[in-house]
Amino acid sequence: MLKHFLTILDIPRDEARQVLLRAKEMKDNNVRTDLLDGKVLLMIFDKASTRTRVSFEVGVRQLGGEPVFIASKDSQLGRSEPLKDAARVLTRYADGLIVRTFGQDKLETLVEYGNIPVVNALTDEYHPCQIMADVLTMYERTPNLEEIKVAWVGDGNNMAHSFINGAATFGYELALACPEGYKPDNAILENARSLGAKITLTEDPAEAVAGAHYVHTDVWASMGQEEEQKKREAAFAGFMVDDALMGKAAPDAKFMHCLPAHRGEEVSESVFEGPASIVWDQAENRLHMQKTILEWIYKD
Ligand code: CP
Ligand code: NVA
Repeated sequence: MLKHFLTILDIPRDEARQVLLRAKEMKDNNVRTDLLDGKVLLMIFDKASTRTRVSFEVGVRQLGGEPVFIASKDSQLGRSEPLKDAARVLTRYADGLIVRTFGQDKLETLVEYGNIPVVNALTDEYHPCQIMADVLTMYERTPNLEEIKVAWVGDGNNMAHSFINGAATFGYELALACPEGYKPDNAILENARSLGAKITLTEDPAEAVAGAHYVHTDVWASMGQEEEQKKREAAFAGFMVDDALMGKAAPDAKFMHCLPAHRGEEVSESVFEGPASIVWDQAENRLHMQKTILEWIYKD
């Protein structure tokens, strides 16, 4: 059966633990396989990327496959060729699509009109590969994820939405602090709660961070929102993760950020470069987790 990875919820909850264990094994044993031997995975990116692009290109090769990168602006997609037309063409050339784009609906169009697996490499709504890797990073330190509190401080954006889905899948407690006007999508939140997720939402960063084992944040203006930077700086005043805020978290709490980071905005220089920061492990785990997600898609 054709598998896609558009959100974390695409991985059934009874398989999620195994995916996590396998990602740890991928990392610890530096696993290389020939699973994707003879397969070409197209990477279509509408937005900039360092980590996602490189970790997927490397990961596909480590599984024996061949990545082909297409910047949309250099293709006919950048000249308004309908996505549903491109989907029907590309599905005849390749064995999978790894896509970074704007609306999640674009991924759904690729699924509908193509006949090959589609992987979400970030949309405006979700960043599931990142949060799967972040869960691995937390799991490495605290294997019992159901006993940890995860704090999200900042925008109710693609990262926040995937953390919300992750709470439903992995059982960690999630406390979100988002300013008025920048809260996560209520339907995503309520869906996760209906699946049993323990999630609170406040406008007070100190309340969300109180006793948290992991404190996450992200840029205040995501890709595509650059012109809102000034307005967002005003709205997010008081949301910087600094030493004072980290001091309210659990003893030995860790700071995490998907990167790239804006020091002096969403995180202070001292927290970002300090002993609580585990951002480089977090970035490394993109590679191991994405190889595992590809294995989950292609192994059957
Ligand atoms: N964290 C992340 O997705 O980074 P890139 O934008 O560099 O891919
Ligand atoms: N929220 C950010 C994440 C970047 C990895 C963005 O969408 O730009």
